[in-house]
Amino acid sequence: MKTKILELKTHTLEEIAATASVVLKNGGLVVFPTETVYGIGANALDKDAASKIYMVKGRPSDNPLIVHLSSSDQISLYAKADHPYLKLLTNAFWPGPLTIVLPKKDNIPSEITGGLQTVALRSPSHPIAQAILQKSQLPVCAPSANISGTPSSTSFSHVLDDLNSAVDIIINGGESTVGLESTVLDLTSDVPIILRPGSITKEMLEECIQSPVLLSDSTQKVKDIPKAPGMKYKHYSPKGDAFILKGSHEQIISFFKQTPKEAALIACTNIVSKIDNRITFDLGYENDLETIAKYIFHALREMDRMNVPTIYIQSFPNKGLGVAIMNRLKKAANNKIITL
Ligand code: TXA
Ligand code: MG
Repeated sequence: MKTKILELKTHTLEEIAATASVVLKNGGLVVFPTETVYGIGANALDKDAASKIYMVKGRPSDNPLIVHLSSSDQISLYAKADHPYLKLLTNAFWPGPLTIVLPKKDNIPSEITGGLQTVALRSPSHPIAQAILQKSQLPVCAPSANISGTPSSTSFSHVLDDLNSAVDIIINGGESTVGLESTVLDLTSDVPIILRPGSITKEMLEECIQSPVLLSDSTQKVKDIPKAPGMKYKHYSPKGDAFILKGSHEQIISFFKQTPKEAALIACTNIVSKIDNRITFDLGYENDLETIAKYIFHALREMDRMNVPTIYIQSFPNKGLGVAIMNRLKKAANNKIITL
């Protein structure tokens, strides 16, 4: 398939939205930028179109898709919208990187919810994503625009590496600003449960609803069914063997200096700047967790590009945005942690 590339250098936002809407209405696939990561989208009401997403990504059919909406006004069209915290949460965080899981209505095909009776909804804030959703007025199901199991795509070049020739349109929106996928929040019971941590943190959610929010670990099961089916799969994996290093800067530096020269280190500026003549990726300053989050998937993909066989990654404090960062790093490292 010849993939059409659209970008704001050559087209107006209106032209991009109009072209993408036609493709979506005709059952095609559109890769578009969002503030979190790029998404590969189809009309969520068209199960044949949605099934193409699973094929192109190589995604297991029991892993449900997030449905993207132009605004919270559309929630009640596709889901039961009577949860007492729903309005508070969408007022505070939509459009933005918060996905909310609700009981689904019948018009949402169970093929896109992995057979679940719930649907995950999110309204992205990225202007290109918003323009497409507003122009098409369609609910757009869109997982991250990467081949299943590889790090999510946070820039146009990542999308080209994974999906060129496999979809109808790719829209170039440069680098994603957040760099980690949205927070997924289960609102199907009284107490909200974070199924996937993201840049909207537990603390921010609790502040908003003035009530406790639970953080599920990805192994948690309810009646033996994983609550967020996607979280059980191996994710974000670089090709090389990745390890998390837990220790002081000095310990990480001296450990890494003794490793074979093919091994690489992903860490903050203060560590990387003290290492010469080795493969490293500088994530930015340690207290700037937003920048670190933004470049994690990029760093993992760079390691693949250089065919690095062994990747060491600095550990970060497990609070605030650090929870989402560590969640992705632990998956990338398959939970292999070296305590120094
Ligand atoms: O930031 C994002 O959320 C990006 C952009 C494109 O919006 N999308 C994304 O989609 O990360 P994906 O498919 O890579 O991840 C969706 C996650 C999976 O872990 C999936 O299991 C969970 O959301 N999910 C989707 N529907 C669900 C449901 N009904 N119940 C529980 N978890 C659900
Ligand atoms: Mg994904």
